[in-house]
Amino acid sequence: MKTLCFFLQISRNMHQGNQTTIAEFILLGFVHQDEHQNLLFVLFLGMYLVTVVGNGLIILAISLDTYLHTPMYLFLANLSFADISSISNSVSKMLMNIRTKSQFISYESCITQMYFSIVFVITDNLLLGTMAYDCFVAICHPLNYSTLMQPMFCILLTVIPWLLSNIIALTHTILLIQLPFCDHNTLSHFFCDLAPLLKLSCSDTIINELVLFIVGLSVIIFPFALIFFSYACIIRKSSAQGKWRAFSTCGSHLTVVLLFYGTIVGDTDKTGAVLFTVVTPMMNPFTYSLRNKDMKGALRKLINRKSSSL
Ligand SMILES: *[C@@H]1O[C@H](CO)[C@@H](O)[C@H](O)[C@H]1NC(C)=O
Repeated sequence: MKTLCFFLQISRNMHQGNQTTIAEFILLGFVHQDEHQNLLFVLFLGMYLVTVVGNGLIILAISLDTYLHTPMYLFLANLSFADISSISNSVSKMLMNIRTKSQFISYESCITQMYFSIVFVITDNLLLGTMAYDCFVAICHPLNYSTLMQPMFCILLTVIPWLLSNIIALTHTILLIQLPFCDHNTLSHFFCDLAPLLKLSCSDTIINELVLFIVGLSVIIFPFALIFFSYACIIRKSSAQGKWRAFSTCGSHLTVVLLFYGTIVGDTDKTGAVLFTVVTPMMNPFTYSLRNKDMKGALRKLINRKSSSL
């Protein structure tokens, strides 16, 4: 974090030289009336706590239950980790600003927040693709499952989303810090998101928008195609009874995918961003633990272990 800020400071001095630049941005948040701020604070703090507790329980249950040390659940634990990080990154500054009755965020914090918001959303997206591939192998090639999903390959399948998302975020960040910001520094948003930041710049942002469009499209289309073909095969290959079994195994994944892509459509405004960075991470644990027998069993074991140790 510190290194990133330092790096931003240097490259900013290099690129913008004698141009007038702004040192901080203003985050307008949601409402301007004072009487609604407390309600907003309670609402978002509540969603934040539910997300952290829900996803935290999933990670704990999976890591303590050796029965769940299978690729599917390790991917799920990674998804939960990305969800906790995503919501912490997007709402923490907003909650702090409501408490301190301030709307400012420094240039460096803003860019750092934008960097991590890209990392977590893309990681989430790519992990959903990874999980679809896992379902596909489990159902369409069950006999080859252990040869196809070797431990090293599974680790690679979780490392790639994190690595790729960091490379993409770095690309966007380097392109963004070249841009001058003259006198407009008010973001009508609740965190520093790439699209609204681009709108504030006083120079041409065509290259940034082009990169955003191409990278964004491929990062959405590739996992989506993977998910689509996996499920097409799953439906085609299985018998009526097998279909039912397939949907009870991978159905929770499909729910999360629908939730995720449902919220992606029509994004870029504030409501879209709330769904994307707050509501989806909060809902993931519920879609999994409520629909999945193994997950429920593991959570029950976790709670029993806690109550017997007390
Ligand atoms: C993510 O997946 C890797 C390997 O598949 C696993 O070793 C790691 O524990 C997982 N991360 C979390 C937070 O569970």
